[in-house]
Amino acid sequence: ETPLLVDRYGRVARDLRVSITTACSLRCTYCMPAEGLPLVPKDELMTPDEIGRLVSIGVHDLGIRDIRFTGGEPLMRRDLEQIIGSARTAADDAMRALGSDEHVRIAITSNALGLDKRAKALVAAGLDRVNVSLDTVDREAFATLTRRDRLDDVLTGIRAALAAGLAPVKINAVLLPETLAGAADLLAWSVEHGCRLRFIEEMPLDADGRWTRDDVVSADDLLGVLRERFTLTPADREDPSAPAEEWLIDDGPATVGIIASVTRSFCGACDRTRLTAEGTVRSCLFGNEETDLKSLLRSGATDDEVGDAWRAAMWAKPRAHGSDAVELAADAFAETERSMGAIGG
Ligand code: GTP
Ligand code: 5AD
Ligand code: SF4
Repeated sequence: ETPLLVDRYGRVARDLRVSITTACSLRCTYCMPAEGLPLVPKDELMTPDEIGRLVSIGVHDLGIRDIRFTGGEPLMRRDLEQIIGSARTAADDAMRALGSDEHVRIAITSNALGLDKRAKALVAAGLDRVNVSLDTVDREAFATLTRRDRLDDVLTGIRAALAAGLAPVKINAVLLPETLAGAADLLAWSVEHGCRLRFIEEMPLDADGRWTRDDVVSADDLLGVLRERFTLTPADREDPSAPAEEWLIDDGPATVGIIASVTRSFCGACDRTRLTAEGTVRSCLFGNEETDLKSLLRSGATDDEVGDAWRAAMWAKPRAHGSDAVELAADAFAETERSMGAIGG
């Protein structure tokens, strides 16, 4: 019987999210300061071999079945193909050793800049899927929000991902006051291109500490805006632990999802464990406790020692939004020292 990554509240982590860099080619205001995040020194970043070793331990010993590479922007790593390849080999070997023919899914969350040149090689290395972060298809609004005038390059990247067979491509759009008016256009673009759009309520993970609860555009605000143009009816969820609520657009088959991380938090069903770019485990987006697995690897620890440290870190996973306090309101958050770009979307 494999001891899994369980916590004190009975949740089991089967979904591993690995940030592999804090660098990014955009500067979304809700994620990064204008000058970007401090770069992690190269020798503090995990190598493809180290990532492969952690994937092997995670899948073989700890029950991980989904892996997602994030950042920062994963495409900023020139060795992303090697990272995916190393993770693919490690995951497939681990499943074979377990006598299972189940496929471990490997995905990235990316802004799609430069994806046109690399999509085919990434698929060949073993990538299954890509989620693209895109908040608007209005060129000016995009340039203001991301501080870079590169909407066309993002759209080119998405088309290339689809052409390389990375369907279904999911698009993540953070809900913001300045892009709400363009939400229906973004949805129309997504439906037209066969992408699954999900809107996300903004969480306090920006680098400038500018977030306030009062400014959050809620799922209900969005529904009001979308209903001016589309008929929306609730759809069944494909997976109960998936954070998105799904709606059928004009009777389907296309759908739109809403991740109501603030107004309808889903911490009770959270099945995630995260690794930062420096190779530490974070049990929650908002928990500040980190356990350094990379140093363990580099000091020659065995798989069992690494697995035990990982399990201990996850056992301490806070109840909700980084806190164990039951009196913490559902829409309150513990303060994090790191911004999203450093933890990994
Ligand atoms: P799929 O498996 O394709 O559904 O992807 P995903 O939703 O797991 O990953 P993605 O990177 O696309 O995440 C979507 C958004 O959900 C992120 O950008 C975050 O805003 C939010 N999110 C991701 N992880 C967490 C988490 O652990 N807690 C909370 N509250 N929100 C999260
Ligand atoms: N709140 C919610 N989602 C965020 N993302 C980045 N910052 C935030 C935030 N403050 C999302 C991006 C992307 C992923 C990396 O995280 O849209 O999809
Ligand atoms: Fe880069 Fe994504 Fe952060 Fe935007 S949200 S700055 S694309 S890491």
